[in-house]
Amino acid sequence: MIKQPSSQIDFTNLSFMPVKTKYSYLSYYKDGQWDEGTLQPGDQITIDMLSTGIQYGQQAFEGMKCYRRKDGGVQFFRPHENARRFQESCRRVMMPTITIERFIDAICQTVVANSEYVPPHETKATLYVRPFMIGIGSNLVLAPSKRYLFGVITQPVGLFFKTGLTPSNFLISEYDRAAHKGTGDVKVGGNYAASFFPNDIAKSQGFTDCLYLDPLTHTKIDEGGAANFFAITKDGIFVTPKSPSILPSITKRSLLDIAKTYLNLEVVECDIYINRIDELAEAATCGTAAIITPIGGIEYRGRLVTFGETHEAGPITKKLYDLLVGIQFGDIKAPEGWILNVE
Ligand SMILES: Cc1ncc(COP(=O)(O)O)c(C=O)c1O
Repeated sequence: MIKQPSSQIDFTNLSFMPVKTKYSYLSYYKDGQWDEGTLQPGDQITIDMLSTGIQYGQQAFEGMKCYRRKDGGVQFFRPHENARRFQESCRRVMMPTITIERFIDAICQTVVANSEYVPPHETKATLYVRPFMIGIGSNLVLAPSKRYLFGVITQPVGLFFKTGLTPSNFLISEYDRAAHKGTGDVKVGGNYAASFFPNDIAKSQGFTDCLYLDPLTHTKIDEGGAANFFAITKDGIFVTPKSPSILPSITKRSLLDIAKTYLNLEVVECDIYINRIDELAEAATCGTAAIITPIGGIEYRGRLVTFGETHEAGPITKKLYDLLVGIQFGDIKAPEGWILNVE
């Protein structure tokens, strides 16, 4: 049964800093099959130090959110897409897959058990849900493990970028986050460890985050460390990069549909050349954590190019934000199949 938000937690002041929930989900893979999977109290596991997940980064994860509707119920936004992407990520690092049905069952069980941590509708905070898989067992040999752990853990969260809907500046990184034909198009831990250092450089220079160029030619915008990139051109076209080294964002794919069907915009997935960004009227990053984070300016090799108003999100970015968040929180009717009600 879904519980109403706990009165013990201050849901109005959340960031992405840890707030523990009561239960997590664990399932183990051994001798070629998964066990039943169970909920367990707390968030601790014990594994071998020579686990491939620790030593070689044999690991994959997903990032999703559970939203409290006005009527008190809770829902997921396109969770089957996360389940499919998780399968792709697991295959890429040679881990066994989890069926879509089991993935959905595991995230729903975990949310129901922790439902008092799904923040109230009006706070616009959410319960972040993190399914993950790691190679376990003692494996010094540089090869895929024979044993795995699939887990789901949750945490109530507020804004990922504290700038919210106020535009802020991003820095084009001198580093690559993922190689061309590497692992950029799947959600595996190594991509994120690689982005800590460039992110730190950007932050220490006063930027919200960095953006990466395509690793092959370094001429086109790829994406951010934890979010895709989109922009609105001066003639009103929604453009977003098409690249083999970016994560196929579910938020981005949804925005392509929303821009087309709700706002009647032309939408194009194309190359966005860094030396032509002054043709853009609005720019933003998007993702489950970032939602839509407007970009006020992009700095590349010492030159800052700014977009539209610097103190508020551009008009189309704002409309996209309201539609996306309205659908996610159940205030606006979603396209068929986008919402999973948790019971
Ligand atoms: C590197 C990267 N790009 C893009 C995204 C956005 O993807 P999604 O919209 O599916 O959350 C994420 C977040 O998961 C990410 O980590």
